[in-house]
Order: sequence, then structure tokens, then C-alpha cells
Amino acid sequence: MAYFANRVVAITGAGSGIGRELALALAAVGALLALSDKSADAVAETGTRCAEVGHEPTVSALDVTDRAAVLDHAAATAARYGRVEALFNNAGILHVGSVADSPFSDFEHVMDVDFWGVVNGTKAFLPYLLDAERAHVVNMSSAFGLVGVAQHAPYNAAKFAVRGFTDSLRQDMRAAGGKVRVTGVYPGGVLTSIARSASVAPGIDAAAVARRFEAHVARTSPAAAARTILRGAARGEAKVLVGLDALLVDLVTRFAGSYHERVLDMVFRS
Ligand SMILES: NC(=O)c1ccc[n+]([C@@H]2O[C@H](COP(=O)([O-])OP(=O)(O)OC[C@H]3O[C@@H](n4cnc5c(N)ncnc54)[C@H](O)[C@@H]3O)[C@@H](O)[C@H]2O)c1
Repeated sequence: MAYFANRVVAITGAGSGIGRELALALAAVGALLALSDKSADAVAETGTRCAEVGHEPTVSALDVTDRAAVLDHAAATAARYGRVEALFNNAGILHVGSVADSPFSDFEHVMDVDFWGVVNGTKAFLPYLLDAERAHVVNMSSAFGLVGVAQHAPYNAAKFAVRGFTDSLRQDMRAAGGKVRVTGVYPGGVLTSIARSASVAPGIDAAAVARRFEAHVARTSPAAAARTILRGAARGEAKVLVGLDALLVDLVTRFAGSYHERVLDMVFRS
């Protein structure tokens, strides 16, 4: 993680969960942070905690779906520090509900935040990252960007899209000289507020979704997730799997062919 000392790093969705832990870990090694989140209060709290262990970060209220604001934020970050060396496109939301029961608006909202937010951040920061000696783009997909799961079509669609976008961007950057390394991150369940903040289709008990996530799905702490992500990003790894559950999903989807859904069903139900 010392790799990030004195590097200028922007993180979206830094007000909670994995984004907050990335910020705290990076602050502790002396990174210069540009933190943003849709929630001004939440990102201010992360900023205060980072300042206790490292340099005082800049904090901004920023909705990643607001393309003009994201472009302004990237320009302001580059102007403030004179350079940008890493971008973590971390902001994300979850929706739970079947295709039949979920309104179009939930599909659109999840795609706006989870996919278009990544595109907006990447395109806004890329000119500055390309100017750096060495730089990194780190995009948050999910284990649900590796396998389709019932009741998660909007999230699956967005996270699969992030995976394709990230893999293509990596090859663009290789063709452009390889100074910008591109990492896709695929966490399994991480104990954050994502399920508590999730939207649900009519008829689904939101509190029960959150309880089940916290009791049975979220096996990795956000601090441990941040450590794994930062290690992979510093090494410029193409693909970072977070948690044994994500490792298992990756293995089974690649090696069980058409049977992968049945195998995963058996594993996660047992
Ligand atoms: N927690 C998990 O199990 C898990 C698993 C796989 C992937 N992920 C991904 O990790 C990332 C971080 O999620 P988390 O688990 O820390 O969740 P979280 O809910 O704890 O944090 C997400 C943060 O994003 C912010 N945010 C939401 N919409 C935004 C917007 N439009 N613009 C800017 N900020 C916005 C929220 O305010 C919040 O602070 C997300 O992309 C998520 O999809 C999480």
C-alpha cells in the first residue's frame, strides 16, 4: 500500500463501506485524496477521519450520474493537486426484485449509478491520468458481474457492463502506451450498508433482504476488502477477486460451463 504514498487518488462513493475504508487505508499511507460521495455529510465524516491519520483530503458532494459535475470535479482535482494518479470508481447501489416485478425506473437508476457513473468518472479523469507518469483506474464490478443471480437483473446488468467496459479500457490503455493500468474489482459479500440502502420491487420485504445479506452473504469486512483491492491495484492486476465467495464464483463460472448455475446453487444453499 506504500505504493500510494504521495499519489493523488480520487474515490467516488467514499462516504460509506468499501469507499470509506479505501480512503482510510490510503490516508494512512500518505496518499493525497479527493473524496466524493452523493451524501455531503457522509463524505465529510470520511474526510475528518482521514485527516486524523494522514493528509487532509478534499471532500466534495458529487452524484456520479451528474456528468457535468463529474467533469468539473475531475478538473478541480487536477487543478488543486497538479496531477491525478489513481481513480477508484466505487460509488454503487443495489436493487432487489425480479425482472417482471421491477419497474423500468429501477433498471434505469441502477444503470445510471453503477454503469454510467463508472463511464462518467473514467472519461472525466482519463485526460489527467494519461498525463501522469504511471496511473490507475480501478472499477468496482462485483461477483454479480461474473454470474447472473435471480432477483438481481438490474445490478447484474450494470456490473457485467462495468466488467466489459473495464476490460476494453485496459486494452485501449495498453495500446496507448501502458502508462494507465486498469483493474476490475469483483467482491463477494462485503458487510456494508449496500443492502440497507437497496431499493426493492413491490412485495419484497426490504428489512428481510438486509438481514439476510448481513447474516448469510456478507462474509468479508470492508477493511479487509479495501486491503485486497489496494494490493491488487498497486500491482496493476487486471482482475481482483475479493473474498472466498468471489473466488468460488469465478472458478465455477469458468470451469463448470453450462452447469455453473446448478453448481453454485448447491454450494451456496448448503
Ligand atoms: N457490499 C458488497 O457486498 C459489494 C459486493 C460487490 C460489489 N460491491 C460494490 O462496491 C461498491 C461500494 O459499495 P459498498 O458495499 O461500500 O456500499 P455502501 O452503500 O456502503 O457505499 C456506497 C456509497 O456510494 C454512495 N452513492 C450512492 N449513489 C451515489 C451516486 N449516485 N453518486 C455518488 N455516490 C453515490 C453512497 O452514498 C455510499 O456512500 C459499489 O459499487 C458496490 O456495488 C459491493
